[in-house]
Amino acid sequence: MAVVQQLYPTTTTTTTTTRWLSFHNLTVIVAAFFIYTFRLPETGSEDLTFKRLVIGVISARDHLSHRNAIRQTWGSLVQDLPHVELVFVLGDRDCPLHPADRLSSRTCREWYIGEDIENSHVRTFFKSKNELAKVTLDSECSTGLGIKILHPVILEEVSVRATVLKNAADIFIILQDAKEMIESVKVSSESCSEENGYCSIKLPAPLYLPKGFEGELRVHKKGIDDISLCGEDLYSLQSKTKWVCKWINSSVINYKFVRTRKDVFTKWRKTFCPLVSAKFSIVDKNNLTVHKKEQELRTKEWKNHLKFLQKKIDKEGEKNNDLLILPLMDIYTHLPHKVMGFLDWVTHKYNSLFILKIDDDTFLNVPLLELLIKSEINTTPSWWSQFQYHRSVPVYGKWADLEYPALTYPTFPSGAGYLMTGSLARTVAAGRSYLASYGGEDVSMGIWVSSVAGNTREVDIPCWLPHPYCSQTVLVPQLSVAQLTQIWGKTHTK
Ligand SMILES: *[C@@H]1O[C@H](CO)[C@@H](O)[C@H](O)[C@H]1NC(C)=O
Ligand SMILES: *[C@@H]1O[C@H](CO)[C@@H](O)[C@H](O)[C@H]1NC(C)=O
Repeated sequence: MAVVQQLYPTTTTTTTTTRWLSFHNLTVIVAAFFIYTFRLPETGSEDLTFKRLVIGVISARDHLSHRNAIRQTWGSLVQDLPHVELVFVLGDRDCPLHPADRLSSRTCREWYIGEDIENSHVRTFFKSKNELAKVTLDSECSTGLGIKILHPVILEEVSVRATVLKNAADIFIILQDAKEMIESVKVSSESCSEENGYCSIKLPAPLYLPKGFEGELRVHKKGIDDISLCGEDLYSLQSKTKWVCKWINSSVINYKFVRTRKDVFTKWRKTFCPLVSAKFSIVDKNNLTVHKKEQELRTKEWKNHLKFLQKKIDKEGEKNNDLLILPLMDIYTHLPHKVMGFLDWVTHKYNSLFILKIDDDTFLNVPLLELLIKSEINTTPSWWSQFQYHRSVPVYGKWADLEYPALTYPTFPSGAGYLMTGSLARTVAAGRSYLASYGGEDVSMGIWVSSVAGNTREVDIPCWLPHPYCSQTVLVPQLSVAQLTQIWGKTHTK
């Protein structure tokens, strides 16, 4: 039987609480400090079953073959060790949307395809107007717009608000992604054509943006802070009129963020009116129509697939009795909740000296971990991993994070795995109702530890992850099932 744990009321309440808290960081930290202080004289843990080590393998529901590979390889060594337990941590349900109908593979938000794909016009991101101010508008000037492409488009023209060009030379409109500049066009009042207060210029060659492209369109002038381009529009509190952007509902473009000041990014809202825009057309429109038509069938097939998967997981749980099924949807953005759910479960069930979090595509060198644990007699709250220091907060891509209110993250461990003392796990788990999650699970853990247990001893292990200087390492991450088995064969020839 699978171990089921119901400490979450529902996932939705957890999410709302954490959202709200993310805007009240200071309160959280202060509250956390008090709760931490009160919790220090830990009582009751002597009633719990003693464990030396509990290993939580964070696993996606459909990774059955990875879990089996672990059971047959390094997991089999764990079974022979006294007071050591291994559990696989899963969510209790899947996203009901077929992956092809989601805005991104990491969330469960629907990609809605509207009527706009029917006509073949070239479109702009928004229609703009300078009109009498309404209080509900975002008055802050934004110099950049972050977009994600959901279906290929061709970018034909870029435009900038005409007032920007009035008193300035050497203005560029730039399209960039996380890695590089993709296009840079110089604009001047003479070279562009004005419409609705925006000045447009044709790209030297139409630019194809593929499905999945994430980037930012921004206005830039060499040598000055972009925000000074806003001029009197910077904070239009005094002026009676404001720029209003009427955004088009696009099925192919997902607006992500605006850049309001240098390095300050805010989640897109339709009340923003950026200085830059573009004209684009949709590529292979017929494919979208077909895609939309096939949605019903796809959803049916997906439902059947999920039913089948649930049956397999039920069987797996009965056979192995090593699944911890948490009451949350099994998607990427819930990973921090998953790890928190594991810590909460483990610290309520066991009095464990050490807790290891590891991913299901990672090989664990059990003897090496045992050596490490045996050498640690110190029981002050500690954790072990290969840590990341002063990492900047990303705006684009897989780890994009527009919520965390700083430029760099606190020190965080390797996402593949980290070991912590039971005392540290208890402190973090005690904060589960008010600790907000940011970015990935590794980043969130770094933020949680730094806010509730700032004096934690952090031990950077040189051969934690593969490195040319290390003949063997505690972990080998990101492996296929075949690779896991192969490494086992090499290290475990009797
Ligand atoms: C845009 O689409 C949303 C649904 O995704 C709809 O609620 C809204 O009314 C649409 N707005 C316009 C202007 O078409
Ligand atoms: C549209 O469908 C055709 C035929 O299946 C395919 O060759 C093409 O790559 C598709 N285009 C896009 C943008 O998906």
